[in-house]
Amino acid sequence: MTLGWHSRQMPVERARLRSLIARERASYAVAHPRSSDLFRAADHLFGRVPMTWMAKWSGGFPLYLERALGNRIVDVDGREYVDFALGDTGAMAGHSPKPVVDAVAERLEQLGGATTMLPTADAEWVGAELSRRFGVPLWSFTLTATDANRWAIRLARLATGRPKILTFAYCYHGSVDEAFAVVGPGGAAVSRAGNAGAPVPVRMTTRVAEFNDLGSVEAQLAHGDVAAILTEPALTNIGIVLPEPGFMEGLHELAGRFGTLLVIDETHTFSAGPGGATQLWGLRPDILVIGKSIGGGIPSGAYGISRDVAHMIEEHPEADLIDVGGVGGTLAGNALSVAAMRATLEHVLTEEAFTHMVDVATVFTRGAQDAVDRAGVPWSVSQLGARSEYRFASPAPRDGSSSAAAGDEDLDEYFHLSLVNRGVLITPFHNMALMCPVTSRDDAQLHTRLFADALDELVGTG
Ligand SMILES: Cc1ncc(COP(=O)(O)O)c(C=O)c1O
Repeated sequence: MTLGWHSRQMPVERARLRSLIARERASYAVAHPRSSDLFRAADHLFGRVPMTWMAKWSGGFPLYLERALGNRIVDVDGREYVDFALGDTGAMAGHSPKPVVDAVAERLEQLGGATTMLPTADAEWVGAELSRRFGVPLWSFTLTATDANRWAIRLARLATGRPKILTFAYCYHGSVDEAFAVVGPGGAAVSRAGNAGAPVPVRMTTRVAEFNDLGSVEAQLAHGDVAAILTEPALTNIGIVLPEPGFMEGLHELAGRFGTLLVIDETHTFSAGPGGATQLWGLRPDILVIGKSIGGGIPSGAYGISRDVAHMIEEHPEADLIDVGGVGGTLAGNALSVAAMRATLEHVLTEEAFTHMVDVATVFTRGAQDAVDRAGVPWSVSQLGARSEYRFASPAPRDGSSSAAAGDEDLDEYFHLSLVNRGVLITPFHNMALMCPVTSRDDAQLHTRLFADALDELVGTG
């Protein structure tokens, strides 16, 4: 028997892992004949899926959705799942929360006017609530977090007159060209593997640093051409990489010293609490971006700017923010999306909801960490409020590059499949689990049992 050690840190026998994956794939195929048939019949979809990333689900084909309510999903084969993927945060409010359904039905069915190009009173309510939660005073709406980031970047360039954006290696901010960069020779920004059809080489638009390394940030800002630092307060798309004490304060100080704006993307880190990590950690961004969950499942996004940034934009002699300025979207801020945001913030993702979600995520995290400790594998489990994630490295990586190096697609597939085959979904991207307002401690403990069983089988104690 050969032991195929993946790395010095990972005592996993590769042959055993491969045979477990084969077993789980076979059960998955047998259990989901209707999903498999629908996938195979999708001759008119590029990659056989509505959006290319949906092919990322493990098992060779995605589950087809029949219905979803709260934190339960039922697929077209009639199987039910406890959903910890929650639409990769798009459904952090739970599926079809009643207040959102009512608000959407009222707007769509009774009042009418999903999209009219006219404002509704809900917009100011949402702007005021986002200001109260995130401390940023002036808001505009979008339909996706990607758009909110793109427009934030545009405005930062306009406000500062500088061309470049500083991002962190292995960050993700949606399909934002400037952000697909990693650290190359001499600290230069180089394209991340797989970045397809980039408009220009990333070194022309981007400076890149390592998360938790203020020295690398300072060295890049010293070039004097950076309009904005664009970052999540904790990286969440390469596992969870939490900021070390002083890192976010240091970023703020460096941004101020070099005349660079600080753009905080709270799209995922909203899981930290009602005002995201910004409120929890007392951050002071110049621009704040949020999307996904704030519409309770209805496409919605927003970006908030400080009064100083607003002033810099308004002062600009040539800014066209109506038409050709690169900031727009005919359906942005539409009445339906804004009604959904209001209902979500007013009635669903409330302070009480977050208290519960964080409590359940703590149960989830402890359960997963105990299973890891018992199995004796050097892995780590990180939590950010309502979000938890295991990563195949211990201690937890402190920057994007080392977290990327700890990635293991075979292990991901094994855990995803063994959970899905037993009624639990986690995100198809790495190993994230998210709690919504109706996720229970029992749900978290179900995951603990299944994860511990899968782990025991893998390391040979099962
Ligand atoms: C931090 C962050 N920002 C922005 C986005 C983009 O969101 P969307 O794809 O909904 O535009 C994502 C998507 O995963 C994200 O993780």
